[in-house]
Amino acid sequence: MKSPAATLPAALYPNLFSPWRRGRLNLRNRVVHAAMTTRRVFDQTPTQQMIQYYENRAAGGAAMVVTEPLNTARIQTRGHYVRAWNDDNLDWLRRWADAVESKDCRLLGQIQDSGRGRHERGRNPNAIGVSALPDDLSWTVPRTLSRDEIWRMIDDIAQSAARLERCGFSGVEFSAGHGHLFHQFMARRSNLREDEFGGDLAGRMRFLTASIAAVRAACSGGFLIGLKMPGDDGMPDGVDPEQAAAMASLVTADGSIDYVTFCQGAHSRTLDWHIPDMHWPRAAWMPLIRQLRAHVHGVPVMALGLITDPAEADGIIGRSETELVALGRALVTDPAWPLKAAHGRESEIRYCVSCNTCWGQIVEGQPLSCDNNPRVALPDEVEWQPSRLKRGRRVTVVGAGVAGLEAAWIAAARGHRVTVFSAGAEVGGSTRLHSRLPGGESLSSVYDFQYTQARRHGVTFELGICASVDDVLASRAQRVILAAGATMIWPRTAPDAWREDGVLLDARSAAAALSEFHEPQGGTAVLFDMDHTEGTYALAEIMRRLFDRTVIVTPRERVAMDVPLVTSLSIYRRLTRLDIEIVALSELAAESDFEAGRIAYRNVHTGTLGFIDEVAIAAYATPRAPRTTLLDALRDAGVPVQAIGDCKTPRSLLAATSEGYAAGMRV
Ligand SMILES: Cc1cc2nc3c(=O)[nH]c(=O)nc-3n(C[C@H](O)[C@H](O)[C@H](O)COP(=O)(O)O)c2cc1C
Repeated sequence: MKSPAATLPAALYPNLFSPWRRGRLNLRNRVVHAAMTTRRVFDQTPTQQMIQYYENRAAGGAAMVVTEPLNTARIQTRGHYVRAWNDDNLDWLRRWADAVESKDCRLLGQIQDSGRGRHERGRNPNAIGVSALPDDLSWTVPRTLSRDEIWRMIDDIAQSAARLERCGFSGVEFSAGHGHLFHQFMARRSNLREDEFGGDLAGRMRFLTASIAAVRAACSGGFLIGLKMPGDDGMPDGVDPEQAAAMASLVTADGSIDYVTFCQGAHSRTLDWHIPDMHWPRAAWMPLIRQLRAHVHGVPVMALGLITDPAEADGIIGRSETELVALGRALVTDPAWPLKAAHGRESEIRYCVSCNTCWGQIVEGQPLSCDNNPRVALPDEVEWQPSRLKRGRRVTVVGAGVAGLEAAWIAAARGHRVTVFSAGAEVGGSTRLHSRLPGGESLSSVYDFQYTQARRHGVTFELGICASVDDVLASRAQRVILAAGATMIWPRTAPDAWREDGVLLDARSAAAALSEFHEPQGGTAVLFDMDHTEGTYALAEIMRRLFDRTVIVTPRERVAMDVPLVTSLSIYRRLTRLDIEIVALSELAAESDFEAGRIAYRNVHTGTLGFIDEVAIAAYATPRAPRTTLLDALRDAGVPVQAIGDCKTPRSLLAATSEGYAAGMRV
């Protein structure tokens, strides 16, 4: 039986939702789910949640879904990848294929090994690799694969592909970019071999080309083979666009490949390129993909990289830039993206904000999750709406940041009569402030979606009111959700007099004040950093644009330690390029003289003083303390109240959305 998403109307986005039939490819539309590691695999075995994740993307309208990497060779033992090289998981593999294919969606298993690559701290003692050369990030030196081992891997990959086909998969995708093992074979930087798997281009490509040939030989004529190739890895002796063109030409020449796409970055200081954030232009890789398209012998090309908007995706196909469009993070955030777009309900899409929290989660071994989707992989994730209660209550939410808004719209959708008080005149809280800083623009779609839903479900907003106990009592609330956020803690070593003089601003006040300035101000900006998250460095960028010099002072040994590795790599690149100075292992010191424009700092180990002169502005970004005054007062007044988000314990955007969601469901 076909699902409701099987054929999507093509009137609004005629290019994106038109079928694609060419050779072995037969797709109901052009939307493809790009491979995402879900970390929902246990001990090399699928879980129901993992299958549900893929089923949801198929039910949401994608025409083809590429899985996360599988263990397709016996040498691979990663516990969080599904074992496909023997018959242990046959039943699971069949269920997986059935869950997706029954929705008229093609399922392709991904073939990949990270080789010497490692994101985590420390070295990987079990790494296998091309040559005994260190990984650019972890400096892991792999055990060099023997020729026999490589040929055995190729045979295993072919047998695994055949097994997947028997289980109902439509094909496989080779992940040959991202700095993984195929890429390590292909790049001179990592391949010193003198046997048939090294040397010239054909030799360095042999592991990939021989694997593709082996899969073709082992599987039926209709089995799909997709290819993700390096487009530009940004590393000396790596794969630059010229090399990428030659490689793409070689591998697509014989008609074995059904589609090809290109990615950027490697397992190196360019790791962050592979999941471009909002500091990149939209559809970030399209210039490169357009260029490389000329070298693939007419094989269908798949657009990829920071594509989040249906009109953008439709335009790419409409201009004949590619035949297919892959969405990675956009479909994590909303599996029903295709369904909603096709039906003209774009305002109901929860959009990816490219924050890369998802990547940070999986690298820490946590299940794939999303700042803007609290229901990843739940059975009713697609087009979910809360079920309505027979009788709603009067619910008051104090605070219109992300946690409060999420609680409010869900409570209202469940049938409660909800009033939201917000001290600010606009919704969005500190996330709105962040959205005005460099790289934060797309964050607005988190609270825009929540606000639209809240209005749709009849939430009353009292904006610009710093709610008192009397206000809350006057709302006759039967339940109160307190989401009043948190404030930055005054730095321990800063004298109180500075607070009274107003010479040291908290980062949020500084960001709000500086957004009014557009002309260079001269002098030095100082930012004391005990925060280590993205917003702080976005403020540093604003400071650098306005002042002659910007100095970050931090008590830790370096900055940006509380963000995912990909985010810290891109932060360091920008700070370095902007010539923003970092004073590590230091705290602000009382010896400062603000009137003379001098700030003193003290080394936390030696006590040695240092000075920054000609200071025009100084700010601090520190851990936050929950705003609990109203909480205590309401409890004293006997009002049933629960604190959520930062108002409970200051944390991340991910925690704010998921806790707001839970509160809205519980109330
Ligand atoms: C959390 C996360 C996990 C990913 N896992 C894989 C993977 O296992 N294999 C792969 O080839 N690419 C993986 N990628 C890269 C995506 O397939 C895609 O190339 C990248 O996210 C850019 O596309 P997007 O901007 O649409 O997200 C991952 C990306 C993210 C954010």
